[in-house]
Amino acid sequence: MKIIMLGAPGAGKGTQAKQIATKYEIPHISTGDIFRANIKNGTELGKKAKEYMDQGLLVPDELTCDLVMDRISQDDCANGFVLDGFPRTIPQAEALDAALAKIDAKMDFAIDVDVPDSHIVNRMSGRRACLNCGATYHITAIPPKTEGICDICGKELVLRDDDKPETVQKRLDVYHDQTQPLIDYYQKQGILKSVDGTMPMEDVFAGIVEILGA
Ligand code: AP5
Ligand code: MG
Repeated sequence: MKIIMLGAPGAGKGTQAKQIATKYEIPHISTGDIFRANIKNGTELGKKAKEYMDQGLLVPDELTCDLVMDRISQDDCANGFVLDGFPRTIPQAEALDAALAKIDAKMDFAIDVDVPDSHIVNRMSGRRACLNCGATYHITAIPPKTEGICDICGKELVLRDDDKPETVQKRLDVYHDQTQPLIDYYQKQGILKSVDGTMPMEDVFAGIVEILGA
């Protein structure tokens, strides 16, 4: 099963994608997580990506597309994958379709996690992320067992650099301008599904499972 998670920054793409990956035993591929791992490890890609991410801008397609195409060609993706944060522009979506067409494959579902902008800033300012293992918490909705410490790996939790309110607003603007057109793109392909992302997380997941089939 090949799935794309669409939705604004903070809509809950990552939260839901992790659960999908576990239930359907497919890899969770988050371009944001890949860039953050590169930043943490001080790679050339990380240095370039950080310049854009810290401003709330998209990393250029040429730095993003090859990375994803390489990842989805690996053996563990043979039975499918869930893409989180990719594609984010029409050229990225076209590059993905073209790469899949070469192996006679196509995406099965594009799931839009729908959350209005008014909810987003609160969610982001409360999010705490583990830069070591990628786990995500929220200080009130999903608090870690010990404040500031990751339940899974015991490392310190941080507010992401791009979760400051002024950067969140920029990310929302970029989302509406460059990413929202993908909703039409996948609607035309007949694979778009939508879930109400303002519901509690378990209910959002139940809605997704209903779409994907048990
Ligand atoms: P990325 O890491 O993908 O960030 P994003 O799309 O802005 O989305 P987030 O990760 O912020 O939110 P999410 O939807 O995953 O929500 P989450 O589950 O964490 O990208 C970061 C940057 O990298 C981009 O700005 C760009 O610069 C660059 N980049 C990445 N991919 C790129 C690409 N393809 N092309 C170009 N550039 C790219 O949830 C948010 C919070 O809400 C959490 O605290 C969570 O616990 C809480 N929450 C989740 N669900 C619920 C719920 N139902 N109710 C209450 N709280 C909830
Ligand atoms: Mg995410």
